[in-house]
Amino acid sequence: MIRLCPSILNANFDELPNEIAKVARVSDLLHLDVMDNKFVPNFTFSFERAREIIESSQLPVDVHLMIANADEEALPYLETKAASITVHLEACEDPLSLLTEIRKRGKRAAIAIKPGTGIDEIRELLPALDMILVMTVEPGFGGQKFMSEMMPKVEAARKWLDEGGFGDTWLQVDGGVNLETIAMARKAGADTFVAGSVVFNSPDPEGVIETLRHLAASVK
Ligand code: DX5
Ligand code: ZN
Repeated sequence: MIRLCPSILNANFDELPNEIAKVARVSDLLHLDVMDNKFVPNFTFSFERAREIIESSQLPVDVHLMIANADEEALPYLETKAASITVHLEACEDPLSLLTEIRKRGKRAAIAIKPGTGIDEIRELLPALDMILVMTVEPGFGGQKFMSEMMPKVEAARKWLDEGGFGDTWLQVDGGVNLETIAMARKAGADTFVAGSVVFNSPDPEGVIETLRHLAASVK
């Protein structure tokens, strides 16, 4: 199964209901990038603002927390109706406890790794994971170039999931996914795709998502 998750990082923040409506019909989840200006050198939303977006979204929300001290700072998000919560391995003291807590609250629990973090570092967390996010750019900003050198990590994770019987665990890529790069990520084994600037910088966001889905589905 292929899932498309548009990121609103490059959408117009003053018109979010409108922007979300542009993609709702053809998307699986809405990807919400929360940045705290500590874990990454950029700020997007306070918790209060993020909660408003999560509670009012027509799409289930995939929350990508790029925030420091996730063990504590992620907890308020467990009280929202987010469908999925992703925390960064690099921002957690005790990722296993946090992931377990996320699941306990009925949400999909996910871990993200930055480009400099090896995939082996999350291996022991596999049974606690509903999604693995392999970052294909350095987190912080939209519109960066896709790092194809991350594909061996996606391939390794795909192998673990297939061979370990983790059939319900999604494998997501985020950063630089566009019409030229999505096939490469699909070929490596990703099934869940975040796309920001390619969608919201287009006059036809729906059309772009449909084309991305088609390109991913065409990979043999
Ligand atoms: C980057 C964010 C991404 C970003 C993707 O830190 O996590 O979700 O919005 O945007 P594009 O598709 O433009 O790379
Ligand atoms: Zn993201």
